This record gives sequence, C-alpha cells and structure tokens, in this order.
Amino acid sequence: MAAEEANTSEPAVQGGPVESSPHQHETRIDWESNTVLLQSGQRMPIVGIGTWQVKGQVCVDTVCTALKAGYRLIDTASIYRNEADVAAGIAASGVPRNDIFITSKLSPKQQGEDAAYEACMGSLKALGTDYLDLYLVHWPGAKGLKPSHPGTQEKRHGTWRALQRLQKEGHVRSIGVSNFMPHHLSALLASPDCTQAPVLNQFEVNPLLKATEAVQACREHGIVVQAYAPLAQGNPLLLDDEKVLAIAGRLGCSPAVVCVRWGLQMGYLQIPRSTNPTHIMDNLQALHIQLAAEDMDAIGALQAGQGGGTRTCWDPNTVEY
Ligand SMILES: NC(=O)c1ccc[n+]([C@@H]2O[C@H](COP(=O)([O-])OP(=O)(O)OC[C@H]3O[C@@H](n4cnc5c(N)ncnc54)[C@H](OP(=O)(O)O)[C@@H]3O)[C@@H](O)[C@H]2O)c1
Repeated sequence: MAAEEANTSEPAVQGGPVESSPHQHETRIDWESNTVLLQSGQRMPIVGIGTWQVKGQVCVDTVCTALKAGYRLIDTASIYRNEADVAAGIAASGVPRNDIFITSKLSPKQQGEDAAYEACMGSLKALGTDYLDLYLVHWPGAKGLKPSHPGTQEKRHGTWRALQRLQKEGHVRSIGVSNFMPHHLSALLASPDCTQAPVLNQFEVNPLLKATEAVQACREHGIVVQAYAPLAQGNPLLLDDEKVLAIAGRLGCSPAVVCVRWGLQMGYLQIPRSTNPTHIMDNLQALHIQLAAEDMDAIGALQAGQGGGTRTCWDPNTVEY
C-alpha cells in the first residue's frame, strides 16, 4: 500500500502535472494509471462506462465497444435489468474478467439484510461472475416505505450488515453507497452496524449540480466521490454553454470531454453513458487533456439557469432518515 500511495503524489497527465490550486483534492488519483486507491486497498479506474437505460443488443455492443476502446470500469445495477447484457458484452470483447472493474447496485426493493444478500447473489449470477469489484446500495430509501418513514434507516443499516458480510465472504471486493446525502452517511457511520465504512459514494455531480455538501461529507471520511450524470444527461445548458464551447475549441476536444475532465480534476470519478461509438471513444480523451485553473474556475462558476438546479435524476434529499 505504501508504494502505491507514493505513486499517487505526482499527477502526470499529458501536458504536465496538474497545477497546484484550490481544485487539488484529497482523492488519491494516480494519473499514470488513471486509477484511484480505495480505502479497501483496491484500485479502481477513474473513468467508466455508464449503462443506465442501455439494454439488450445495444448494451452488448456498448460494453464491447467500450472495453475495446480501453474502458475498464462498467457501471450497472440490478434495477437497470441489463446485467446479463453486460456479461454478454464483456464476453464479446474478449477482455479478461480480471482486467475489468464491475460495479453493481442493489435496488430499493432489495433493501434489508436478507434481501440485500440475495440481491448480490442474483447480480453475480446475471453477470456470470463469482465476484463484484464494487457493490453499492443504490438508494437510501426502501421500496414500501415512504421517504419520511423513520424505519428506512434501520432497514438500510441491515442492508449494510449484508454488504459487510458479502465482502468478508469474498463475493464483493469493495462496498459503497449511492445517493447517500450527508445525513444518510453520518447515520451509517455512527451506527454500530457499520464496522466497515463505505469506500465510495456515487451521486449526481456535474458543473450544473455541484452537490457541495455531499462532496464535503465524503471528503471528511475519505470516501471517494463518483459522479453520475457527469454530462447532465447531455443537457444543452452544459454542452452548449459558450464558456465550455470556448475551452473545448481551444483544447481541440468536445464539450463533453471538457466536462468529464472538469469532474476528474475536481477529484470525482466519472461514468459517462453513451451508446454512440464515436462518443464512447471521445469521452476517453478526458484522460489526455488538462484544464488550467482559470478553465476550472470558469466551469465551476456555471450556474444552473432559471429555476434553480438542473438535477436530472431522483433527489435523495427526499429520503428524510
Ligand atoms: N446511482 C444512481 O442513482 C445513478 C443515476 C443515474 C445514472 N447513474 C449511472 O451514471 C451513468 C451516467 O449518467 P447518465 O446516464 O444519467 O447521464 P450522462 O452520462 O450525464 O449523459 C448521457 C447522455 O450524454 C450523451 N453523451 C455522452 N457522451 C457524449 C459526447 N461525447 N458528446 C455528446 N453527447 C454525449 C449521451 O448520448 P449518446 O448515447 O448519443 O452519446 C446521453 O444522452 C448512468 O448511465 C449510470 O450508469 C447512476
């Protein structure tokens, strides 16, 4: 571990080290291997392919294309109903399982100690693998309980006991959460049920939705932030923004690449989704450009536009306990 940590101190991306600035983060990204070291001791890629709403042959082709292009992280979930398609895409790519980092998640319907354990077994079977690299609690709420129901927390903590057991038994290598806001995280970390902290929290973050409090809560506990909807689902407010377009023009890349790179330099792992082979390959360019401090500031100053935020997905703040 010490040697790996030593590796991470000097970001070395094309164009030289990232300048020291307030945008430097505590996340231990190794810019040589484009991986991050999790608290579990496992390394994971900083960019992966998202697969929400990607099913059937499109999913098979997307996963295969992404792996052939060089992606080594696939983000799926039982709720996406595409785990078997992901497995077929992996098989079609010819990339060995051990070279791939697979994340899956249990759904709100699968919350609770026994259900969560069984959910993992189901995902393993559908994915045709005997281990997951990372297993996440998809959502702090539980199906059948209102978001304001105090029993939600107890159920969620039962889920966490199951994840810790799954990790001990070797079914999953690392465990984490998704959509956990500061109050969900602090309750879990304070619970006697939590003997192993989540290594990662996946939630919506992009230049239009900065989720500052959630990021801060993760940093306080050394929890890696992974951004979903890093492109705000293709929102033109982001991808057609004139500042983003100007930076992209200057760097000779697409606006999407600028946004992915902004997230990486903020220290957020990125899982952009695309089913378009050109975009899939394009998004990897984020590993090869560098944003100057003033570019980071300009993108960081983007506003969500009229009417407040531009959250594209479900709002986890609605889960009260
Ligand atoms: N944990 C959770 O609750 C949660 C929630 C949402 C998402 N996620 C995960 O995060 C992943 C990413 O988030 P997301 O799917 O919501 O949205 P996203 O990645 O922010 O945006 C996807 C959209 O961006 C477009 N796009 C991708 N690359 C592009 C490029 N280079 N140029 C122009 N457009 C581009 C895609 O269209 P094309 O296909 O045409 O390229 C697609 O319409 C999901 O797929 C899923 O794995 C997790």
